[in-house]
Amino acid sequence: MKHLLTMQDLNKEEILQILDLADQLKYERKHQIPHRHLEGKSVGLIFQKSSTRTRVSFETGIYQLGGQPLFLSSRDLQIGRGEPVQDTARVLSRYLDMIMIRTFDQKEVEDLAKYGSIPVINGLTDYSHPCQVLADLMTIRERYGILEGLKMCYIGDGDNMANSLIVGGLLVGMQVSVATPVDYKPDAKVMDFAKDYATFSWTSEPKEAIKDADVVITDTWASMGMEEEKEIRQKAFQGYTVDDDLMALAKPQAMVQHCLPAYRGQEITEKVFEDHADEIFEEAENRLHAQKAVMVLLMKGEKA
Ligand code: CP
Ligand code: NVA
Repeated sequence: MKHLLTMQDLNKEEILQILDLADQLKYERKHQIPHRHLEGKSVGLIFQKSSTRTRVSFETGIYQLGGQPLFLSSRDLQIGRGEPVQDTARVLSRYLDMIMIRTFDQKEVEDLAKYGSIPVINGLTDYSHPCQVLADLMTIRERYGILEGLKMCYIGDGDNMANSLIVGGLLVGMQVSVATPVDYKPDAKVMDFAKDYATFSWTSEPKEAIKDADVVITDTWASMGMEEEKEIRQKAFQGYTVDDDLMALAKPQAMVQHCLPAYRGQEITEKVFEDHADEIFEEAENRLHAQKAVMVLLMKGEKA
């Protein structure tokens, strides 16, 4: 059985295959060409954390593909009352054709895949956010026509987005430079993955990382589940706000990506956000197309 659990599940060819299909599905959607690849299929969407984009893009995407989405909040599921994920996996596999899960612990997603018998898609964990990074790569490729050789710069927390961007960017041949505070580096597994790439660099100095970047990416300083650390983090991330001074060091026409929700005045200024709003909201739209591509390919058993 094949799944999308982390970006490390994919190789370059598979990422490009997803992006090509995503471009095609976007075209078909814009031109009202039917693409009902999930006709008669039911997809469960388990949420243990809040969501706007992931929930709505999966629900509408499944509908557009002719399938049935089931929104399953952990507040209502027995999993929220302690039913083991191993049992949930074996039960849901008998009703559904595919599962997307948003949760805290990456192991929960892995266990769902291990004990179930249907494809599992990671809709965000503390460790990774592969669906978002596929949409980001799609958006970057739409703008530049290529990915290979472009410089991606990530500034901020070494969180799920940083982890997945590093892997995704390096796999497709981008140069990836990351600036985080020393105490907020990306996951050790990801740093270990990246160390073999001459195209990867980490620094605690945003000005160094952003130099000549084609794409500048940031994310919240306090991810879901870190609400209590908010104040400490605000102090730790001083100097990491993506503002005009930093942007002046990137390439003149550099694009900006933000997975959203964005906290203006923290990881990004209002001005930089609004100057790049078109790119950022295209990125949000591309969640829909990229995820539809992932679901179609997983249902065919063709990838990951
Ligand atoms: N970017 C993203 O995953 O947004 P949501 O949390 O709204 O789903
Ligand atoms: N890093 C953020 C991403 C939100 C889409 C979080 O995990 O909350």
